[in-house]
Amino acid sequence: MSKLKVAVIGVGSISKYHIQSYLANDGVELYAFCDINEKRLKFMGEKYGVTRLYTDEAEMLRELPELDAVSVCTWNSAHAPCTIMALEAGKHVLCEKPMATNVEDAVAMKEAADRNGKLLMIGFVRRFGRDCFIVNDLIKSNKLGEIYYAKVANIRRNGNPGGWFGEKARSGGGPLMDLGVHSIDLVRYLMGMPNVVSVYGTTFKKLGARDGVKTPKAYVAASATDHDICDCEDLASALIRFDNGVVMSVEMSFSLNTADEVNNIQIFGTQAGVKIDSNVTLYGDTDGYLTDTSFAGNNGLDMKDIFSREIGHFVDSINGKTECINTADDGIAMMKILTAIYKSAETGHEVIING
Ligand SMILES: NC(=O)c1ccc[n+]([C@@H]2O[C@H](COP(=O)([O-])OP(=O)(O)OC[C@H]3O[C@@H](n4cnc5c(N)ncnc54)[C@H](O)[C@@H]3O)[C@@H](O)[C@H]2O)c1
Repeated sequence: MSKLKVAVIGVGSISKYHIQSYLANDGVELYAFCDINEKRLKFMGEKYGVTRLYTDEAEMLRELPELDAVSVCTWNSAHAPCTIMALEAGKHVLCEKPMATNVEDAVAMKEAADRNGKLLMIGFVRRFGRDCFIVNDLIKSNKLGEIYYAKVANIRRNGNPGGWFGEKARSGGGPLMDLGVHSIDLVRYLMGMPNVVSVYGTTFKKLGARDGVKTPKAYVAASATDHDICDCEDLASALIRFDNGVVMSVEMSFSLNTADEVNNIQIFGTQAGVKIDSNVTLYGDTDGYLTDTSFAGNNGLDMKDIFSREIGHFVDSINGKTECINTADDGIAMMKILTAIYKSAETGHEVIING
């Protein structure tokens, strides 16, 4: 089988994991890069030995009809236009999360994929983590019993990355859109994709980018400048009700005056609960004694590993070796959840989701 010719559109921070995974995949020829930022494009071209470099996606697609597939790694508002253009040119697309900044764009992306008979895979990369595999097995073998509650939290004290991340026009939203998407999807995926019935959400825009804080941030976006716009929420919380009876509480923040920075996912059942953070722990009981069972090995978030599995899955799905698990429908469902939470926060009421 000949190698797939793949281009990466948007060669900023996250693109390195796509690029490195393509380079390590025997079934792929990393063929071209595209970025509207010429300086960054040249830098990444030199770094990875890619010589077909374009600042305009339309020009790249016109000049390289032999391309088979693209990764879309732009900021969120460019996901829909870049993805649709690539699909219309007959390319398979792996689009980073969140799928889009609104439901309408997400639906238009799926329609473009269907119209052109091409694969549109969404970058729900945490589905490829070892922590996900373990919890999936625990749930399948009924170690948790009946699952009835879940809790996801990603709380940073001073963690707005800057750049486009806090700018609504380019991001579509703050920590809910950026961080919430991963955790909400993972729990939903582990529960076998139940539908969402309703959400109640609140958002707060109180601390902003915390420009006055001198303590260094753990992560600063490649696109950060000293004049970034910050008009997104800095804290979002929500209750999501699923049609399997499970309720999930969500807390996502870029900036919060808290003592406890956390990033974890907890799923609670009648037999045991499970917590995913830097490892997986099962909270159950044996012979009447409460037990905490941890799993040997490195089961924390390993970016290199999860991306190489995600890219491997994209390539195998294109080649018909497997059915793609990260579907456009899953991306649309997620956009419905996220936008419903924002709507609930705006109106102060629960939002019912139909279909
Ligand atoms: N899966 C994950 O764990 C994960 C982690 C971080 C970011 N992301 C997602 O990856 C995407 C990129 O994030 P990032 O941190 O790399 O941002 P970034 O700002 O570092 O990179 C984005 C790049 O896209 C380019 N770009 C924007 N519009 C373009 C267009 N129309 N055509 C070509 N290039 C364009 C920008 O110039 C920039 O270089 C976002 O959607 C983000 O949500 C995913």
